[in-house]
Amino acid sequence: MEENIATDCIVIDDHEQGYDLDLFCIPKHYIEDLERVYIPHGLIMDRTERLARDIMKDMGGHHIVALCVLKGGYKFFADLLDYIKALNRNSDRSIPMTVDFIRLKSYYNDQSTGDIKVIGGDDLSSLAGKNVLIVEDIIDTGKTMRTLLAMLKNYNPQMVKVVSLLVKRTPRSVGYRPDYIGFEVPDKFVVGYALDYNEYFRDLNHICVINENGKLKYKA
Ligand code: IMP
Repeated sequence: MEENIATDCIVIDDHEQGYDLDLFCIPKHYIEDLERVYIPHGLIMDRTERLARDIMKDMGGHHIVALCVLKGGYKFFADLLDYIKALNRNSDRSIPMTVDFIRLKSYYNDQSTGDIKVIGGDDLSSLAGKNVLIVEDIIDTGKTMRTLLAMLKNYNPQMVKVVSLLVKRTPRSVGYRPDYIGFEVPDKFVVGYALDYNEYFRDLNHICVINENGKLKYKA
């Protein structure tokens, strides 16, 4: 029987081994705490460039408010917007884009608590009537995004689309799938490129799998 392969993103297989840490530049302070490099920085950038093009094709006709979900989304947000800006300045047709930030928290160590809190950000009433692009780092169970989408609805935006750099394949998923996805990844805890474990590893360029040593060392 033919396997049903999703083509809306790069799918990283459960058996993917990643790359040896010694083949890349890893900060010395993290070398004992990681298993493998999973998604090298260059590949993240190349995929982000294409996501920018897909988003502009669908949404580029109207003023977009790009809403960054902090803190994990800040690198992806900055790089995605750089690519969108490059498209805008090289096109005959371009529309202004404005930015907003929201800060949510739901994780304790490597577990989703399911209890999602807005702990900072802009006044969302400015989103009324706008085309909003939510920029997220990773969808795990999907509870955070479901909650955020329900919350945004109260502010009456004209359109809401979601781009997530990563989506985890997990049995804990509530079934939510964003409009644009960079990579689909196995059910492992990943860090780097602004994704953290208790605030550590944001200062790592590549997306890597944390090891037991790292989990213990940086436990909350
Ligand atoms: P969800 O509500 O279970 O979808 O969790 C989403 C949030 O959990 C993300 O925005 C991240 O902040 C965090 N998260 C989930 N999985 C990981 C991971 O593997 N590494 C780092 N953060 C994660």
